[in-house]
Order: sequence, then C-alpha cells, then structure tokens
Amino acid sequence: MRHFIVVVVLIAVVTAGIGFLLGPENILPTLASEEGAYVDQLFSMYAFVIAFFFALIVVIMLYSAVVFRRKKGDDEPGANVHGNSALEIVWTVIPLGIVLFFAGVGAVFLGDVMEAEADEMVVKVTAAQWAWRFDYPEYGVSSSELILPKDRQVLFEFESPDVIHSFWVPEFRLKQDIVPGITTSLRLKPTLAGNYTVRCAELCGLNHDYMLAPVTVMESADFDSWVTAQSVLDILLPEERGMRLAELNGCVACHTADGSSSVGPTWLGLFGSEDLLADGSTIIVDEAYLLKSILDPNSQIVEGFLADLMPKVYEDTFSQAEIEDLIAYIRSLGN
Ligand code: CUA
Repeated sequence: MRHFIVVVVLIAVVTAGIGFLLGPENILPTLASEEGAYVDQLFSMYAFVIAFFFALIVVIMLYSAVVFRRKKGDDEPGANVHGNSALEIVWTVIPLGIVLFFAGVGAVFLGDVMEAEADEMVVKVTAAQWAWRFDYPEYGVSSSELILPKDRQVLFEFESPDVIHSFWVPEFRLKQDIVPGITTSLRLKPTLAGNYTVRCAELCGLNHDYMLAPVTVMESADFDSWVTAQSVLDILLPEERGMRLAELNGCVACHTADGSSSVGPTWLGLFGSEDLLADGSTIIVDEAYLLKSILDPNSQIVEGFLADLMPKVYEDTFSQAEIEDLIAYIRSLGN
C-alpha cells in the first residue's frame, strides 16, 4: 500500500510538471485570434494526457527498477506471469474513452470555429508561386500585405492558380490548404493588434521558404484610414502603378528591383542592357522584348536562367494597360 501511494503521488507530480511545461503558453507564439483559443485549449488537454501516460510508464518503470531490484545473493527466478485479463480490459477501455472524448470535444470546437458572424468581412486570398495577394471585395481594394481590423471576423476565401499552398499565421493558430481548382475557406477573428507574418506551410517549389507576407492587425479606425489611402491609386504614374502590380501579382518573388539575384533576372539596370540568350544570340532589352517575355516567357530565356519557371498566364490575367504599366516600371529601373 505504501508503494502504491508513493507511485500515485509521483505520477501526479510528474504529470503536473510536464503538462505545464508542454502548455501552449510555453511553446506556442502569442495567441492573436478568437478561434485560436480553441486550439490552445485542446493543446493543453493533449499536453496533460501525454504527460500522464509518460509519467504512468516512466515512474512505474523507474520505481520498480530501483525499489524492487534483486537483493544480493537472491538467485531465485522471478514469478512467471501469464497475462491479466482485467488489466488488458482496462488498458483498452481507457484509451478508447480518451479518443472518443477528444473526438467529441474536437467536433464541438470545430462547429464553434466555423460559425459565421453577421458582420464578417470577406478577404479573397490568391496564393501563387511564390507570393500572396489579398483582395477586399467589400472595399474594392487589393494588397500584397494582409491588413485586418481587430475584433471583426474575416472569411478568407483561398485560390491558387498553380500548385497547393497553405495559409498559416502561427499566432492565429489555424491553417488552411489552398488547392488549385477549388475554393477553400477559413474564418478568423483577430483579437490582438500587432505585426505578424503569413507563411506558406506547403512545400510548393523553389522559393517556397520565401513565400511570406506581412500581416498587420489594427484598430478598426486605422483600418478605415488604410482603405481610404488605398483608393487614391488611380492618380499614380504608370511606373508607380506598375510597381504595385508587380508586388500584387508576385512578380517580385522572382525579379528583384535592387540588383540581387533570384529565380529570374533582376529588373535593376535591365532595360536598355544587352543580354545573352540561352540559344547564344544577344538582344537589347526594349519594350518589345519585355512584352514578349511577359506573354510568352519561354520564347527568349536569358543565359543562366531556367525555362518553365515563369507562369504562362499573364496574357489572360493582365489587361493591355496593366502590361504597359508593368513595362513602364521595368523601364524606370533601367539604365
Ligand atoms: Cu507556397 Cu510553399
């Protein structure tokens, strides 16, 4: 009986200690969404179950090894045990109960997490190799950064033109795959103003690990000012509109504007320069070359770069005027 009490106390102490150490407040980043609170609750419950089974096994094993070790001079063989039906029933029924319990709690939480609120704001997210674009249909605004008002539920609708990506802001906890051909969605209500990062959580090609975008959660008055500021873009110069298009459509994921190397040629000093093509010929970079490269990227690959990396969709996704703005921007970075 004394052994039993000591073991129970040890198991309780080890469970509490490890369960606390594994808690979300110790190993996850700051929580910044209402839905994420459910994840953290489940996470702590799992942590305690994990800690309990760890303690149950390790405490009993170590206690037996130390307290019941063989005495000096005792050469008798140990007792022969042939199984214990009661024990087997117990260690089947208890885990079954635990799994069913978590299934129930998970189903209830999932229902709460997916529930829509009346004033939710729709944000359409386009994830493409290797950039994020955020459209706010309610306001007619687009952005390469995710700007959200605090305390208002957002319905994200995700689309991808190429491969599978995954939307993940660790502080919001929930994660959603973005699958070509279908629209997936996720509801989140940011609860803490601050700066975060959305990262792609699905291996999606060469620049997957750079597929990041800034996330800012702000007070709703600041959000309104941001929306207003975005709406004055019509009066920008062509090259300024071009720069914005390049950011929004992910061109900058492969083409830098500062001369550093990336998947595609840098735009700094590109216009007017002489380029050696992969087929051995040389060309002068002018409007006609840029236009051809945007619409039919494989037609004139520059020596040292790979074909088939640049999407061949821009003839359909850009208007004539947008392509002119883009070329004006690239020209402005030239010699
Ligand atoms: Cu997109 Cu990884």
